[in-house]
Amino acid sequence: MTNVVTYHVQNHVGVISLNNPPVNALAVNKGVVQGIMDCIQEGEHDPDVRAFVVAGAGKAFSAGADITEFSTVRLPDAVTLPALLAYMDTVTKPLVAAVHGFAMGGGLELALACHYRVAAPGARFALPEVKLGILPGAGGTQRLPRLIGVERALDMIITGDTVDTEAARKLGLVDEVAPGELVRAAVSFANGLVKEARELRRISTLQPRLEQAATVFFEQARARIAKDYRGFPAPLACLQCVENAVYLPFAQGVTKERELFYGLRDSTESKALRHLFFAEREAAKIADVPDDTPVLPLKRAGVLGAGTMGGGIAMNFLNAGIPVTLVEMNQEALDRGVALIRKNYAGTVAKGRLTQAAMDQRLSLLTATIEDSALADVDIVIEAVFEDMELKKSVFGKLDAVCKRDAVLATNTSTLDINEIAAATTRPGKVIGLHFFSPAHVMKLLEVVRGAATDKQTLASSMKLAKTLGKVGVVAGVCDGFIGNRMLHKYTRETHFLLEEGATPRQIDNVLEQFGFAMGPFRVGDLAGLDVSWRIRQRRAATRPANERYSRIADRICERGRFGQKTGAGWYRYETGSRSPIVDDEVQAIIAAASAEAGITRREISDTEVLDRCLYALVNEGARLLDEGIAQRASDIDITYAFGYGFPRYRGGPMFYANTIGLDKVHETVARFHRELGEWWAPSSLLEQRALEGGRFD
Ligand code: CAA
Ligand code: NAI
Repeated sequence: MTNVVTYHVQNHVGVISLNNPPVNALAVNKGVVQGIMDCIQEGEHDPDVRAFVVAGAGKAFSAGADITEFSTVRLPDAVTLPALLAYMDTVTKPLVAAVHGFAMGGGLELALACHYRVAAPGARFALPEVKLGILPGAGGTQRLPRLIGVERALDMIITGDTVDTEAARKLGLVDEVAPGELVRAAVSFANGLVKEARELRRISTLQPRLEQAATVFFEQARARIAKDYRGFPAPLACLQCVENAVYLPFAQGVTKERELFYGLRDSTESKALRHLFFAEREAAKIADVPDDTPVLPLKRAGVLGAGTMGGGIAMNFLNAGIPVTLVEMNQEALDRGVALIRKNYAGTVAKGRLTQAAMDQRLSLLTATIEDSALADVDIVIEAVFEDMELKKSVFGKLDAVCKRDAVLATNTSTLDINEIAAATTRPGKVIGLHFFSPAHVMKLLEVVRGAATDKQTLASSMKLAKTLGKVGVVAGVCDGFIGNRMLHKYTRETHFLLEEGATPRQIDNVLEQFGFAMGPFRVGDLAGLDVSWRIRQRRAATRPANERYSRIADRICERGRFGQKTGAGWYRYETGSRSPIVDDEVQAIIAAASAEAGITRREISDTEVLDRCLYALVNEGARLLDEGIAQRASDIDITYAFGYGFPRYRGGPMFYANTIGLDKVHETVARFHRELGEWWAPSSLLEQRALEGGRFD
């Protein structure tokens, strides 16, 4: 028996305890699965043992299969999870799962192979495999529909969402809730089964229940899933398995499930999603800041500026139960900002996603004022005033005077130099960039921008805050645009060059939507509004090198008052009240005129060229960010793009995508663009070096 699984007999019940911290992953190579099998076999032969309880030591029951093993070689003769669960179906003594914390994926499948389940209040149950691009591969798709009914099982499997103990009890997934000492309750439950001589409820022998006609149900579900999960291969495979549960005997269903599982596991899409799973956790780690760095208690927040960003930023704190003082420069702007916050909450209440009481509770944490002095006792202020260096410097000077000495002063600037802003204070160590994405209460990404003087405690505290607010924090260094927008600038610029050379907005949008973006760049531009970047371009015009290629198309579009959907026209035209883009001859004429003005003969541009130029513009700039140390690691760039810019998750982010193409091939194409198109395509030295070595990013 291995130490990753422990065993003892308590009141004639063999208690098997998983002991593989931190999440009791069912690691095959570490002997966890074998360990469980050994314990049950021992108990089966022990006349003193009447039943079993399977439990988890530490914080939870089990997070399922060890995901790291999906890309490692399995030890020969190692007992697999499906083999263990098949064996459990032959066991003659009652098996009871005792679940606390969470039972996820293979962990839940292990619990489902037990005859009964006892759970602590607040435990979470899920089959989240779909989020990793796979499906529950140890009988989950066959057992769950047999236990809780096909409709609800399919919903859990397709969404991967968790249900808590209370909901699980209602679904029939949990047989008893044990508020006290869990293992003791489970042992007593098991002894009760023996005493009452209750039959062993093997889920594999039950019939899946369906409340409606199977053919109609599956047909409708298939159509819905194909539409909602475009590009993701796992959800349709999950549906196929659940359908098999209805039509095929259990053993055949399990075999088919396994076949489909292997196919998905080895797919690029699943590798990409698994990469993002680990990348998200890795992003929290900072090379020179130890995990145990003491953090500042950020219990009261201030937000300066109640415009588009300030209001959304304030909502993040309110949602997390942190009181916020929102400060504006005049009453009118303040009232407007507060009204927008109310409107956003009211919208969520109307959709049934928030109760009125919860909305009132959140708003009760908000103090709105036009007095800067109200920020005297907050632990952190996030400044979200206009994007203007002189204004920001004067605001930071004032904050420095008003706020307590150890308060963190953060800026939400998108483009300005944080070091310069920090220099306007007497506490540059406490100044940091917290770059939220619009809409700030929705988007999960938070770029945490580390200034030259930002101290480690401020950085660690900000990363912890990101987690508290439900965001994914990514550390970036100071430069124009940080990670996300600096890369985006190169990508957008390339799309404009493509227009100038012969492509159309529709073609480029189609290519990128086909690749997996929910919307192409021109549709996104029309949605977000074209005027903001126009203003930025105007500001930068004076410092733009004269010999640098510059496309005037976007300026020409804006000069005609075409700011996107809000003006009924941008890169496309919009009928009143509609968001459907219509190709507009006026735009075609503007583009053709701009090509002529730039002396460019328009040509047919292939979809492949469009895709390569757009994506490799991201990749090449991403490599530069790595080279310069602005991004800590390639996977942080992938997280930035997956959470902040709608990069298709099943592609794993731009840097992972480049790895899947092969850096030698990416480099070859970039070098060709450099020769054929111009200097802005010079390959980054890191890309060049990795390509030569036959390496990958990370
Ligand atoms: N395998 C390997 N490592 C895992 C893991 C798993 N299933 N689940 C979590 N970990 C690791 C994390 O990578 C992290 O490692 P580091 O500390 O080195 O970064 C550590 O465990 C702690 O994880 P979290 O920080 O995420 O801890 P948490 O308490 O916030 O969340 C959790 C716990 C909700 C279980 C979350 O980790 C999670 O969602 N894990 C994935 C669960 C999952 O997808 N299970 C299905 C696996 S596939 C399967 O089971 C297939 C099958 O059918 C056989
Ligand atoms: P906005 O114009 O909507 O709001 C700015 C608000 O600041 C206004 O309500 C204004 O009255 C207020 N304000 C100005 N000076 C002030 C002062 N001295 N004291 C208090 N309030 C003051 O601007 P937006 O879009 O919210 O941008 C704010 C900051 O966030 C900018 O730095 C911008 O670059 C950045 N940002 C904007 C994003 C966006 O998509 N809009 C995304 C990420 C960052």
